[in-house]
Amino acid sequence: MSKFIKNLITPNDLSLDQLNDLISLAQDIVKNPELFFKSAEGKVLASLFYEPSTRTKFSFDTAMLRLGGSVIGFSDPSTSSTAKGETIADSAKTVSQYADIIVVRHPKEGTALLMSKHADCPVINAGDGGHQHPTQTLTDLLTINSCLGRLENLTVGVCGDLMFGRTIHSLVTCMSRFSNINFVFISPKELTMPEYVKETVTKNGKTYVETNNLEKAIPKLDILYMSRVQRERFVSEEEYMRLKDYFVLTSEKMSLAKKDMIVMHPLPRVNEIAVEVDSDPRAKYFEQVKYGMYVRMALILKMLELK
Ligand code: CP
Repeated sequence: MSKFIKNLITPNDLSLDQLNDLISLAQDIVKNPELFFKSAEGKVLASLFYEPSTRTKFSFDTAMLRLGGSVIGFSDPSTSSTAKGETIADSAKTVSQYADIIVVRHPKEGTALLMSKHADCPVINAGDGGHQHPTQTLTDLLTINSCLGRLENLTVGVCGDLMFGRTIHSLVTCMSRFSNINFVFISPKELTMPEYVKETVTKNGKTYVETNNLEKAIPKLDILYMSRVQRERFVSEEEYMRLKDYFVLTSEKMSLAKKDMIVMHPLPRVNEIAVEVDSDPRAKYFEQVKYGMYVRMALILKMLELK
């Protein structure tokens, strides 16, 4: 049997077989979580969050605790020796003397990759700036497979801040490897998809259309993946204020969608999905949160090669 990956920096570090294995293990955990409660006993996860998080941090921490392991780390780097000028390389080397696996989120693109080059244990990217967020993609794949029963033959609309949205970059580059996927990129012209993502889609033989009209796009979609316009990625507050409410998904717009379309969102949401949509059975974003914990349990087991 081939070894699982050492580090997870982008979703493309995982082959399609490895992705399918992970989703399958996560689905086993969803069905019988108690069978896995002692699987990581004695193991330690370090969760290093240099940028705010609710879901990613708590889901990783909870995943490790539910596997019987322990968690160390910080969610405020000013309480660590980073505040005294320690480099990322030295922090990675140091923390890996204590922990069996490191999860890192950082506002700068490339930090997880840098850490992986210096740590003596596996490193998982929990979001690096506007670049990638691979474990959100695993969460999304488990959600799609659980709700729609397939990861193929889908029209996927991604909507909002496509330029800086790392969850969207990861999802689109990863899903473009599955069969018969079409994309609809829905954004204001100021926040269109980066060229490297579009090139990956084309290289993988898939098609995309670009539009700024959500109402026109929605009837064709199997999945509508909404995203927040991210204040923290804008240089100009004025530009953020102008674009932040460009798309708002309402019940009226949902009435244009297929009866079995699902709505996803990595969260946090600001205004882009009206609260009235939460009670629509097609709204899956809070189920998605729970799937995030289960798929991270599966990922920890695979990366630590635990039964
Ligand atoms: N989806 C996601 O990354 O959420 P957090 O920023 O709360 O971790």
